[in-house]
Amino acid sequence: KKTPVIAPSLLAANFLELGKEVDMINHSEAAWLHLDVMDGRFVPNISFGLPVIAQLSKVCKKVCDVHLMIEEPEKYAADFAKAGAQILSVHIEACRHLHRNIQQIKGLGMKAGVAVNPHTPIHLLEDIIGDVDVVLLMSVNPGFGGQHYIEHTYTKIRQVRKMIDESGSKALIEIDGGVTLGNAAAIVEAGADVLVAGSSVFGAKDPIAAISALKNVITS
Ligand code: DX5
Ligand code: ZN
Repeated sequence: KKTPVIAPSLLAANFLELGKEVDMINHSEAAWLHLDVMDGRFVPNISFGLPVIAQLSKVCKKVCDVHLMIEEPEKYAADFAKAGAQILSVHIEACRHLHRNIQQIKGLGMKAGVAVNPHTPIHLLEDIIGDVDVVLLMSVNPGFGGQHYIEHTYTKIRQVRKMIDESGSKALIEIDGGVTLGNAAAIVEAGADVLVAGSSVFGAKDPIAAISALKNVITS
């Protein structure tokens, strides 16, 4: 079994020290860096976008995992590829032509992820699971860091795990929102491969140690 991945979310970082924050991630046990893009339309918040990611990706030694919480993501996929995104996830709720959007992302040389809001049923993934590299399950309503993990996500993780195993898909299950040292082991136990962690990493006194601690509870 592959060892689970920690993906710190830069949303909770100190934006006055972004270079230092990425340097910290570079020296940590995190394998991915999670970048949350919000447009104020798909979600009720606005974060950061292309020019910031284009600069960060140049110094980031980890996998640049971009989570688009935006309407019409197909309009920007090529720009995010150019900005250095290696994984690009789009929301199923924002895509009228999800299959086309996933092929577009892969055609641009990136791994393609489908993100799923807490209310969206897992069965909607049945006919796309074979095409995606990542299923990004939201364990909070997207838009803000620092929220509480929704317990029902455990059921959804098990459902996606079953779907992946039965279909022979190679997709990774990524969990986003409210991940802490207290629930990380249970989330991996349910079948997750990648854990996004914002406030539990950047809110810690020692973020490097917080990443290590998360890594330890999910590998042991
Ligand atoms: C929420 C974002 C998350 C967020 C997670 O809209 O997609 O990636 O940064 O933050 P925490 O870990 O604080 O819940
Ligand atoms: Zn995210």
